[in-house]
Amino acid sequence: MKATKGRNVVVVGTQWGDEGKGKLVDWLTESAQGVVRFQGGHNAGHTLVINGVKTALHLIPSGIMRPGVKCYIGNGVVLSAGKLFEEIEGLEKAGVSVRDRLRVSEACPLILPFHQALDVAREAAREQGGVQKIGTTGKGIGPAYEDKIARRALRVQDLKHPERFATKLRELLKLHNHILVEVLGSKKFEFADALKPYIKDGEVQFDVVYEEAMRHAELLKPMIADVSRELNDAHAAGANLLFEGAQGTLLDVDHGTYPYVTSSNCVAGNAAAGAGVGPGMLHYVLGITKAYCTRVGGGPFPTELEWEKEGTPGYIMSTVGAEKGVTTGRSRRCGWFDAALLKRSAQINGLSGLCITKLDVLDGIEELQLCVGYELDGEKIDILPLGADDIERCKPIYESIPGWTDTTVGVTDYAKLPVAARNYLDRIAQVTGVPIAMVSTSPDRDHTILMQNPYVAA
Ligand code: GDP
Ligand code: IMO
Ligand code: MG
Repeated sequence: MKATKGRNVVVVGTQWGDEGKGKLVDWLTESAQGVVRFQGGHNAGHTLVINGVKTALHLIPSGIMRPGVKCYIGNGVVLSAGKLFEEIEGLEKAGVSVRDRLRVSEACPLILPFHQALDVAREAAREQGGVQKIGTTGKGIGPAYEDKIARRALRVQDLKHPERFATKLRELLKLHNHILVEVLGSKKFEFADALKPYIKDGEVQFDVVYEEAMRHAELLKPMIADVSRELNDAHAAGANLLFEGAQGTLLDVDHGTYPYVTSSNCVAGNAAAGAGVGPGMLHYVLGITKAYCTRVGGGPFPTELEWEKEGTPGYIMSTVGAEKGVTTGRSRRCGWFDAALLKRSAQINGLSGLCITKLDVLDGIEELQLCVGYELDGEKIDILPLGADDIERCKPIYESIPGWTDTTVGVTDYAKLPVAARNYLDRIAQVTGVPIAMVSTSPDRDHTILMQNPYVAA
């Protein structure tokens, strides 16, 4: 079926990130002419596998592998120019053109080296103080969003005005160096090698940051744009757009397992604010969800399993699913599918359909457990509560579902899935109340089952 013209799709993670958003965004981009990131930064790690070749993306939208598709970094993203150029150069080496197709919003707040220094020093201070670490990616995401909300951030547009940039940078450094030295004890802190060139006696050095930023400014200038206007113009001209979420709903700063969350809104509604379009332009919300759950970093995880013991279902998820983070290389914690968590996600995102990924990873597990609710303080509830304190006390209520022995790897036709696999999917749709639009059966772009194309109006 041909894609409907002028139709826009939002892709969001419905769990704690790493659901396979990148693979699906790349797949869906066959029907789109523009792909937009609207929140997060290079804390994201999206892996695409096209004809057996792997590409890892962090900041650049996952539509970049389709020739001719325009990619946009919206105002809601916090931008490290250094990381952006590393990624651009990597793609160019692999023969992918980027600079002619990438547009970066002039309103993006910048991530600068002191944000990263604050991020890692704060995590260390939590640990020393006996407080559980958030387990951040250590990329400076939280401190950069703090500056944005405090209305003191340096933004992409400031790069075009060296004097203005220098004045604001001096002010920011006064504040942040004070915190680094006096509050976080940075004089005695052992920073990673990548940060060392910027830091002397625990203080981030103005000259080094300024000179590097001005070099980046020259490279970035041709790509700086009024992304909001370009997206609205593209829409008016009949283009199909894809809004690519990073992280996942349970990492959302308002709706997630607070305070074990990231510092942005990862939910579908933020696609409008973070890209500069009206909510009426968002026509379909596709929720990406693994056939089980994973989480990287600290915080509660009601259905978490023991995943280091050989032969256990958790171990199968971890090893067959290759559950290691793309951004930090950390092992991801693994557990059963949580339908009560998904209900929360469906409600917050207004999901139109689900895409279930990594079904193949469950091949051979004799009996699956599906979490359909929790016991909390002696009461039964059927939806995930808000915030880490309550979620920590939730005891999952499970329903047993028979597994399957046949392989599902690479299946592209729903009817060819084992009956037990179809029963598992049907039960997920039933408990969560969201129809399944797509199923993914391997990392490869082509190993995808389509039941309802989000780009074809119902
Ligand atoms: P994202 O952050 O949501 O884009 O997801 P990541 O790329 O961080 O993590 C998903 C991982 O699972 C990647 O390594 C993908 O290549 C892989 N993957 C995606 N879909 C499938 C699938 O259906 N089956 C299997 N086995 N792996 C998948
Ligand atoms: P993608 O887009 C999984 C997690 C971190 C940590 C918390 C806060 O690949 O799904 P931050 O550095 O953002 O302040 O860390 O959020 N986190 C992710 N987990 N996938 C991601 O992105 C993540 N981005 C951040 O592990 O628990
Ligand atoms: Mg990821």
